[in-house]
Amino acid sequence: MLILAIESSCDDTAAAVLEPENRVLSSIISSQNEIHARFGGIVPELASRRHIEMIRPVVDQALSEAGVSLDEIDLIAATQGPGLVGSLLVGFTFAKSLALVRGLPCVGVDHMVGHLLSCLLEPEPPDFPYTALIVSGGNTSLFAVNDPVTFTRLGRTRDDAAGEAFDKVAKLLGLGYPGGPVISRLAADGNPKAIAFPRARLGEHSLDFSFSGLKTSVASYVASQRRAGQTIAVADVCASFQEAVVEVLVDKTLAAAKQTGHQRVVIGGGVAANPRLRAVLGERCAATGLQLFMPSPGFCTDNAAMIAAAGYYQFLGGRLLAADADAYSRSPLN
Ligand code: KG4
Repeated sequence: MLILAIESSCDDTAAAVLEPENRVLSSIISSQNEIHARFGGIVPELASRRHIEMIRPVVDQALSEAGVSLDEIDLIAATQGPGLVGSLLVGFTFAKSLALVRGLPCVGVDHMVGHLLSCLLEPEPPDFPYTALIVSGGNTSLFAVNDPVTFTRLGRTRDDAAGEAFDKVAKLLGLGYPGGPVISRLAADGNPKAIAFPRARLGEHSLDFSFSGLKTSVASYVASQRRAGQTIAVADVCASFQEAVVEVLVDKTLAAAKQTGHQRVVIGGGVAANPRLRAVLGERCAATGLQLFMPSPGFCTDNAAMIAAAGYYQFLGGRLLAADADAYSRSPLN
């Protein structure tokens, strides 16, 4: 069986071909970073226009790199939501139309589920159940993953997502977009203890997150330094900010695993590519006897291979899309 998957929920046009169980034959990602960088964030209208231009060539490339033709595809999967509706509609409508014309089954995949299952694409995937932290530009949530189609949310951000905080802090420091990769690079040369930025715990037993206070604290610090005519030690600001984010993410993930009693912890989403998060979570899981599973960085950020993996399990469960199914901007899981 061969699955063709399409992902266009935000600013990357992606397509992949996958063979169950989870052998990735191709995974193509066309990034729009260059288009949005000068605006310091994603401009939705520009994103959907670029998806329209790129969807066909990206799908063609995914098929040709996999060495297969459309005639050999057995199932089409596409991200149905959440995300920017204008962006989602391009990939989702393309997938549904292709399925209709070719007489193929089609499944709609929740983008969050893609991230929750992205570890299955690795050579040594986790068994179920596991506790998962999904941490990206749009989401920061903890889930109990019981099997490939059953998820229970344990906590979520009450305001900004962690990746959004990285992007906003980068913008106020004039570092460009996306902020995560550049902040983590600069943080490597900074002192994580230089500035005591706040950690929002939200109560002893809460598994929710909040990053807007931290972002405001960084903004106030930078403004006060500028007012005082001081040069800003950018590497120290990056390292101290990153440490505050990582500490809360790691503490809450371990608390969630304690609550579920799971022996396995999984991370996913763009911020899961952060080397400091990977290192600290690795140390803490090892110290507490938990098994940690992390997707390789290419499967942390948005990709269509994870949508194919999640789509396969939807298909096995008989959850096929009706031709009039619509895209959605908010995930029912969140
Ligand atoms: O999963 P993703 O590609 O798209 C969403 O679904 O949001 O995540 C993108 C987010 C951006 O906010 C980006 O700044 C962040 O992931 N990111 C990182 C790193 N690489 C990407 N954040 C921290 N450290 C990184 N190395």
